[in-house]
Amino acid sequence: MPELIPVLTEAEIDKSVTDIAKIISAEYKGCELILIGVLKGAFIFLSDLSRKIDIPLKIDFARISSYGAGTSTSGNIKLLKDIEIEIEGKDLLIVEDIVDTGTTISHFVDYLKNKNAKSVKVCTLIDKRERRETEVTIDYACHVVDEGFLVGYGLDYAEDYRELPGIYHLKF
Ligand code: IMP
Ligand code: MG
Repeated sequence: MPELIPVLTEAEIDKSVTDIAKIISAEYKGCELILIGVLKGAFIFLSDLSRKIDIPLKIDFARISSYGAGTSTSGNIKLLKDIEIEIEGKDLLIVEDIVDTGTTISHFVDYLKNKNAKSVKVCTLIDKRERRETEVTIDYACHVVDEGFLVGYGLDYAEDYRELPGIYHLKF
């Protein structure tokens, strides 16, 4: 069995999400904000973030596959579920669990930019920089980590561990 090493507690995550929500609330005041959660990993983060942002917003989801059951992006990006609400002229904020190589998010940013949104920005719970391959602008990040495969608070390894309230380094 792999070992779970604590990285972020529930309280630490709560504080960083509260802080980012305040910044987003101020910066998007008067905008038509749409949060676009990337399934499945971002479901808990989006749920907490959306309740802490204190301006009106809409929510939609996309599902993008990049992995099989391994621990790195295959580079083979597929849009498994598209967004459903009208985004033309709207301010989109992609809500992602973790940006690793950057491949998944940069494809998705390009895809949304081609749909005539007013703006497209990226908010990630975790910015993991060690393996970045594709340059991508991350507008909001709650936590920056250097390395390691992380699970919990929505992040999985082969669909396990999403339900953990904190974040852990999965040591094989
Ligand atoms: P990227 O395309 O390499 O940036 O990979 C991004 C996607 O891979 C994220 O949306 C996650 O779903 C997954 N991922 C990357 N690193 C981790 C990790 O440490 N734990 C769990 N999932 C990860
Ligand atoms: Mg993801």
